[in-house]
Amino acid sequence: MSRKSKQTKKSTNGAEIGRRSFMGTLAAAAGTSAVAGTLSPFAASAKAETVHFASNTPGMGGGGPFRAEIDIRDCDVEGEIPSNIDGAFYRVGPDWQYPPMQGNIPFDGEGHVSMFRISNGHVDFKSRYPRTQRFKAQAAARKRLFGMYRNPFTDDPSVKNVSRGTANTHVVYHHGLLFSLKEDSPPVAMNPLTLETVDDYYTFGGGLHSLTHTAHPKFDTATGEMISYGYEAKGMATDDIYVFSANTKGKITWETWIKVPYVGMVHDFAVSQKYIAFLVIPMATNVERMKQGQVHFAWDSNLPTWFGVLERGGDGKDVRWFKGPERCATHVMGAFSDGNKIYVDMDMALKNQFPFFPNLHGEPWDPKSATGTLHRLSVDLSDKTPRDYNMEELYPQSGALPRQDDRYQTIPYRYGFMPTSDPTRPLNAKLGNMPFRPTNSYTKFDHATRKTSEFWVGDDSGLQECCFIPRSKDAAEGDGYLVGVANRLLEGGRADLIIVDTQRMEDGVIAKVGLPFRTYSQVHGWWVPAYALPKT
Ligand SMILES: [Fe+2]
Repeated sequence: MSRKSKQTKKSTNGAEIGRRSFMGTLAAAAGTSAVAGTLSPFAASAKAETVHFASNTPGMGGGGPFRAEIDIRDCDVEGEIPSNIDGAFYRVGPDWQYPPMQGNIPFDGEGHVSMFRISNGHVDFKSRYPRTQRFKAQAAARKRLFGMYRNPFTDDPSVKNVSRGTANTHVVYHHGLLFSLKEDSPPVAMNPLTLETVDDYYTFGGGLHSLTHTAHPKFDTATGEMISYGYEAKGMATDDIYVFSANTKGKITWETWIKVPYVGMVHDFAVSQKYIAFLVIPMATNVERMKQGQVHFAWDSNLPTWFGVLERGGDGKDVRWFKGPERCATHVMGAFSDGNKIYVDMDMALKNQFPFFPNLHGEPWDPKSATGTLHRLSVDLSDKTPRDYNMEELYPQSGALPRQDDRYQTIPYRYGFMPTSDPTRPLNAKLGNMPFRPTNSYTKFDHATRKTSEFWVGDDSGLQECCFIPRSKDAAEGDGYLVGVANRLLEGGRADLIIVDTQRMEDGVIAKVGLPFRTYSQVHGWWVPAYALPKT
């Protein structure tokens, strides 16, 4: 791929700087013009500062940062990978580049993308850090330059005009590019075959008019569109959401702006054929705390939730906000509309689900009220009087990170999948008393019958997010495989990629791909079939 990086850069505070001045910023920070990948080990910037990760570094409970970029041709495969699995499974998660600021949270590590390329029963593994502006600046300086999670007040002054984006949350594929995403910044575009970064600040050819971009765009299979948004879109703590869609060539063909009732986390959204919906939760942006050196968010239990709906393709003036009680919900399994009604399925909990984001009013973090289950939110837009949205708990299983057969995004769907914690399953006695029980199951949900089926990983392992692979291009909805990483807890968390047949969940793993190490934790992943990948 010969796509060139953009020549214009935009900082998180909106100041435009040219590539030349951006490189100048790096040079000033480093005392050299070198960038990552070409750095001399004896660059002038190298000071007598050691790089050491303290044992209390966030995320060290999993064994510490991974930090290695790996290539393995022909991974170890146990079992038989079905020949109809041909494509690439991408995953991304935070992996500290340098020791973080004291008190920072695990989700602020630099994004690290890995790819399992599966074809004809063979699996090649590759991992690369996206070369974000932040990664390059820190590599040149040989130290951390960015402070707390989404808090520019804590940064080194030398990176005032460098994008803070870590690209650590989700990885998706559209118009031939792999996008590594963090919701506080525009996408970072990568070559899907080599994982080379091709644009560290992707703006859809200059068409993106937001300073931010969600980690959770949606895809309309019928049109090939990517529908997406950015919140805090005009800069830190602004109450603007920018909504847009891009066609199959990456050209933005529709955009609009709306205002939110209050500024807080809008991590995911819902898209149906007719509507777009957002849920604003009490994870409120708190600038005063940021000025005191804290992270971007704090949970304000005095705030309600707001469910906002606007027509897709419209001018945004029709947006209506429906009130709900204090709840925490971050991820959408699926969404669809029926006439003037919209339905959105999310995992939802009573209170703050993130122990590292503080409760503003001093309440202790409560793991019980943080336990999420699948809920269906709905409103009828033809009713001009409703003030609350409807909320129904669909299943008792607790979990997070729900997924669906992604071919059914935006349309009525029947099947969903979610990593769940089954409390009836045993835990290996050798694991002792763990502070949190590992996620031990993948559950398949059938919304037509409300029945579930479960894959259990065993008593010695924990599961990361799963991703659905259709059995064939035209396979029926939900007919295929789940793929995800299992950590072997009695082996220091060593990672296996496991493959499960969605028609035989209880039968267990049909094939596993063994990695000879413990890799970093994934936030989200994405499957791209071989026919959709570029040839070279
Ligand atoms: Fe997410």
